[in-house]
Amino acid sequence: MPTTKILVSGVRASGEPHIGNYLGAIKQFIALQNQYRCHIFIADLHALTTISDPKEVRVQTLEVAADYLALGIDPKKTTLFLQSQIPQHAELAWIFNCITPIGELERMTQFKEKSSQQKENINAGLLNYPVLMAADILLYKAEAVPVGEDQVQHLELARTIARKFNKHFGKTFPEPKPLLSEALRVKSLSNPEKKMSKTGDEALLLSDPPEEISRKLKKAVTATDAKGAHPGVDNLMLMLREFGSREQILRFESELENNTIKYSELKEILAQRIAAHFADFRKKRKELLASPETLADILGEGAEKARAAAEKTMREVKEKVGLL
Ligand code: TYM
Repeated sequence: MPTTKILVSGVRASGEPHIGNYLGAIKQFIALQNQYRCHIFIADLHALTTISDPKEVRVQTLEVAADYLALGIDPKKTTLFLQSQIPQHAELAWIFNCITPIGELERMTQFKEKSSQQKENINAGLLNYPVLMAADILLYKAEAVPVGEDQVQHLELARTIARKFNKHFGKTFPEPKPLLSEALRVKSLSNPEKKMSKTGDEALLLSDPPEEISRKLKKAVTATDAKGAHPGVDNLMLMLREFGSREQILRFESELENNTIKYSELKEILAQRIAAHFADFRKKRKELLASPETLADILGEGAEKARAAAEKTMREVKEKVGLL
């Protein structure tokens, strides 16, 4: 039985997706394509808060599209599109801006982090980022939103906005819920106190060739921290549980417990498993990128489907707020 439950999720078009994006979000929505009506988009408007080179925006947008498809998004089942091709995202975000207190946006962790990382460019888009995200989700009246842990605060804001809108203007939006995977937060390889991220240090990219995966993992920090914990090792083990065989997982878990573990062996096996897991992906991605017209066609068809739903919601919203 096809379900009518709606799922929405997106990935920013700034930088290639890494293992954190994959385990935290992408893997989940690929697995849910048969259970929900999925709307998956490339957040190219959100990318403008951090990149300004038009060439880079264009290339990275196409790359993320190829990544989604090569990972298994099926455009026959899932509506796959570019956020900027549906102007209603920005239109609804403006209306939401007018019911969102600035204070709520200023206390968002991501805003605080990003504004300290790019002091020279603390633009209003960074502050309003979660409002646009609420519009992305509510425009399609989504109930389920697979995201990593770092986006849960933004999702709470989307729920608050939905509640507030419904209260003032009458029931319009369902309250969307996050769908969290077990691998909530993959950590950075060089600084495992922090999450793996697209900016800053080297993330393990899905498209990295085997030698690059191996090189990055070899350098991964495994030292004990000030509290006596091993966040780097925990992070490697988290990845092994996702990509390793049952025997490999059991072996390293018991070696870890007996203190006989050799991190170099763990890293080597993990590198092999990750490289093998994404071998098919790397091949498909290359083929897709060699045919940008096909990619553009798929995104065009997706946008057409998304547009119908977006227009319907905007008509309703405009009527409710008194614009029609
Ligand atoms: P982005 O591209 O930064 O991240 C995409 C998804 O990956 C998750 N993620 C992680 N999960 C586990 N460990 C990590 N180290 C890690 N780093 C990132 C993020 O939580 C996210 O789910 N704001 C969104 C893009 C977006 C969106 C939306 C998502 C825009 N509008 C509407 C859902 C619904 C973002 O963080 O993208």
